[in-house]
Amino acid sequence: MFRLTINGQSHEIGDEVDPQTPLLWVLRDTLGLVGTKYGCGVGQCSACTIHLNGFPIQSCQIPAQNVVDQDITTIEGLASGGQLTAVQEAWIEEDVPQCGYCQAGQIMRATALLEANPAPNDAEIDTAMAANICRCGTYTRIRKAVHNAADKMASNNGSGRTGGAS
Ligand code: FES
Repeated sequence: MFRLTINGQSHEIGDEVDPQTPLLWVLRDTLGLVGTKYGCGVGQCSACTIHLNGFPIQSCQIPAQNVVDQDITTIEGLASGGQLTAVQEAWIEEDVPQCGYCQAGQIMRATALLEANPAPNDAEIDTAMAANICRCGTYTRIRKAVHNAADKMASNNGSGRTGGAS
């Protein structure tokens, strides 16, 4: 048995789960947090991006036992009380997704980018987002949405949420 802290909640993971299981599968299969997607399984596409202590990581590449007592955030943990984040709202406004499969990972990566750099330029966005592959080629809209989210966050005192709560 081990415990994981995900989206601010502590979860007990039973002995039926091998602690070496990649975190992605514990999230999806054990905890039902299916917003995090399985893309390639070999660290090449970043569809499975989550935050570990605020930094974006590929959840298919890390054994669950390595993240015990650490702060894990998934796409399900971004919105608070039904209030979408600035990044999520920007994604809707810019109509970013096509098939949508990669987009949870894209949003997690973009959220981490804006936390580190609240006003990235195009080159900084492209560099930060480069690990996240989109087979539909939504990169232009992703870039636009990151700028849109940065503007929202700037006008909302950088809280990252558009509802006014900080
Ligand atoms: Fe289809 Fe990115 S929206 S893979």
